[in-house]
Amino acid sequence: MIVVTGASGQLGRLVIQALLRTVPAAQIVAAVRRPESVADLAAQGVVVREADYGRPDTLDAAFTGAQKVLLISSNEIGQRLPQHRAVIDAAARAGVALLAYTSLLRADSTPLALGAEHWTTEQHLHASGVPFVVLRNGWYTENHLASVAPALQHGAFIGCAGEGRIASAARQDYAEAAAAVLTQPVTDMAGRTFELAGDSAYTLAEFAATLSRLSGRTVPYVNLPQADYQGALLGAGLPAGLAELLADSDTGASQGGLWDGQRQLSALIGRPTTGLEPLMQAALSALATPAD
Ligand SMILES: NC(=O)c1ccc[n+]([C@@H]2O[C@H](COP(=O)([O-])OP(=O)(O)OC[C@H]3O[C@@H](n4cnc5c(N)ncnc54)[C@H](OP(=O)(O)O)[C@@H]3O)[C@@H](O)[C@H]2O)c1
Repeated sequence: MIVVTGASGQLGRLVIQALLRTVPAAQIVAAVRRPESVADLAAQGVVVREADYGRPDTLDAAFTGAQKVLLISSNEIGQRLPQHRAVIDAAARAGVALLAYTSLLRADSTPLALGAEHWTTEQHLHASGVPFVVLRNGWYTENHLASVAPALQHGAFIGCAGEGRIASAARQDYAEAAAAVLTQPVTDMAGRTFELAGDSAYTLAEFAATLSRLSGRTVPYVNLPQADYQGALLGAGLPAGLAELLADSDTGASQGGLWDGQRQLSALIGRPTTGLEPLMQAALSALATPAD
């Protein structure tokens, strides 16, 4: 059995679909807080089990018979360390052969504040005795694409990443990498740490130039001081903690924290990573097509 936690999330769902290409549905467990949220996966024959990072008893039941577990990092920033510890400890009790964890690019040295919980989780993994593999995911291109609509609305793309180059990739790319790791022999994967990032990179000024070209509108990049960018995100209605983290991440990017040139992601998935242009084109098409 391969158990995927956070299977109701955007990355988790893509991992399950990637696994289904080669693994029988009955050998895949979608481990989720609310089983009713993945009724569609159950309909595909995927086994659904309750697994709440905050309730260790659910984790023991969810990991029964598990050979491999993918721990998709929680989105509850600030709560993640105890939650991840609970999952790792339950995997140890279950005696799993491999635990894969979605971390952050260069979690051990990143300038991004987001890295702290990931690096502490990695250290707990090392100490746990569970055979593990670390998937240090770089930035999702989708993070920036979420700002396309407001940028078009306001006529400017704002940030504080300066000239930092961002080697992002699509969630789909990272999901396929996780599925690849989970379907290869444990002996080939245990103990490895992958630094995963896109094959190509852009500055936010280049991102805005691509947006201008594809949309036919003039959308310049406006680089702000970190505090001003954080304030703009707050003003746009983002929760304070998220605004702070996003502005900090841009500053981290300006220091090279989201760039990587090793191409380990494309090597793992056996194809080039998805470039910015097709993803942005798809985002613009979705904006032009009103949802039902
Ligand atoms: N590299 C990047 O650029 C980047 C960007 C954003 C996020 N991330 C990280 O990558 C992870 C996956 O990304 P994503 O886009 O799939 O995020 P997402 O769509 O927000 O999914 C997060 C998943 O975590 C689950 N979760 C949260 N708290 C939980 C708990 N207490 N117990 C069990 N499950 C819990 C959620 O379950 P529910 O469906 O029940 O809420 C959901 O399935 C995120 O959680 C975050 O750690 C990375």
